Amino acid sequence: MFAEIRVKGRQGESLVKIGAIDAAAEFPQSDIATLLVTEPEVLRLHGGRLPSFPRILVARGEEAKSVEGLEALWSAFYEADLDRDARILAVGGGAVSDLAGFAASTWKRGITFEYLPTTLLAMVDAAVGGKTAIDFRGRKNLVGSFCQPRRVLCDVAFLDTLSDLEFASGMGEVIKHALLAGGEYLSLIEGLEGRRPRADSGPGREALEAIVAGSIACKAAIVNRDEREEGDRRLLNLGHTIGHALESILEIPHGHAVAAGLASAIRLAERRGGCEPSLLPRIESLLRVWGLPSSVGEAIGISRKAREGGPAADEPWLRKTIASAVAADKKRSGDGIRFVLPHDPAAMEIIRIPLAELEAFVRETL
Ligand SMILES: NC(=O)c1ccc[n+]([C@@H]2O[C@H](COP(=O)([O-])OP(=O)(O)OC[C@H]3O[C@@H](n4cnc5c(N)ncnc54)[C@H](O)[C@@H]3O)[C@@H](O)[C@H]2O)c1
Repeated sequence: MFAEIRVKGRQGESLVKIGAIDAAAEFPQSDIATLLVTEPEVLRLHGGRLPSFPRILVARGEEAKSVEGLEALWSAFYEADLDRDARILAVGGGAVSDLAGFAASTWKRGITFEYLPTTLLAMVDAAVGGKTAIDFRGRKNLVGSFCQPRRVLCDVAFLDTLSDLEFASGMGEVIKHALLAGGEYLSLIEGLEGRRPRADSGPGREALEAIVAGSIACKAAIVNRDEREEGDRRLLNLGHTIGHALESILEIPHGHAVAAGLASAIRLAERRGGCEPSLLPRIESLLRVWGLPSSVGEAIGISRKAREGGPAADEPWLRKTIASAVAADKKRSGDGIRFVLPHDPAAMEIIRIPLAELEAFVRETL
């Protein structure tokens, strides 16, 4: 095993393992009734190496995180007559773990759940930290819970089948963690120079495990100080205020949206003063080598909607829509919004920004 990291939660601790996962050893046939929740693509690519529990399929991607997706899962739990000693094993990307974790955390007031994440983004972020959620009325993660998975088992062997687009999306969150952590982890990520390691070779596997373990260590240290996002955990929202708006409106991968949000947050920090001038070019070039957008305009450029002849960056209604979506963020209170401003690696400030200022900034920098 490469690493084991513990995440503390009010209702119990979560054990995160990073390394080669031996399903037979991790999931011995026992008397714990277990349902495996996954989606069609993961089943097609990796079905052969999954533990042989009864399987429930949910929709692929963000579509799973809906009221209908949740109801279908609860119905499957009902049909399986799951009692409070049962366990859910969610296998997939962040969409599967967010949905299955929420369904499990609410079924009979909460049953045990574990994650086998299969995307880079889920390994470094979505599966760790105990936030579960579905989307509601077009707004991301509006309904959810804080509840820690009993275990998170990260085997980087799953990552070799990911498309370059989805791998890059995971790198968006990795770069966010690297900026929060600074130091050796940021140097490690910069040292990759955009080269994607593969788990089918020893050095590639080691490199992937180091990327995943470093990101999880950064996130776990923050969550261990503040599980419920009452203080330091807000740091993890770096890039997400603008990012969530872009993700919902443009339908681009989560990490791409966060990347554009991250660079925009640095630009806003520059505009307000106190940001190291070298930070923006440094992070822009790091995003660029992974093909990640470093502005709202670039995010619009990669959106499926835009490619299909949808919105162009200079359309005023689009600026307005993105600006209002940013203003509707969950972190809003009254006429202000909590925002993480980066000044330098490992030097962040959480401040309350007037909504009018943020909306104007988004409109002007599109
Ligand atoms: N709970 C949290 O703290 C948290 C944090 C960050 C993101 N999220 C959520 O995570 C979601 C995004 O997660 P994601 O990026 O994993 O997206 P995803 O779950 O939609 O998966 C992305 C794509 O990868 C495919 N896929 C999954 N595993 C694969 C594999 N091994 N090989 C090939 N293809 C594979 C899926 O079929 C899908 O098309 C968003 O809903 C976001 O809000 C949650």
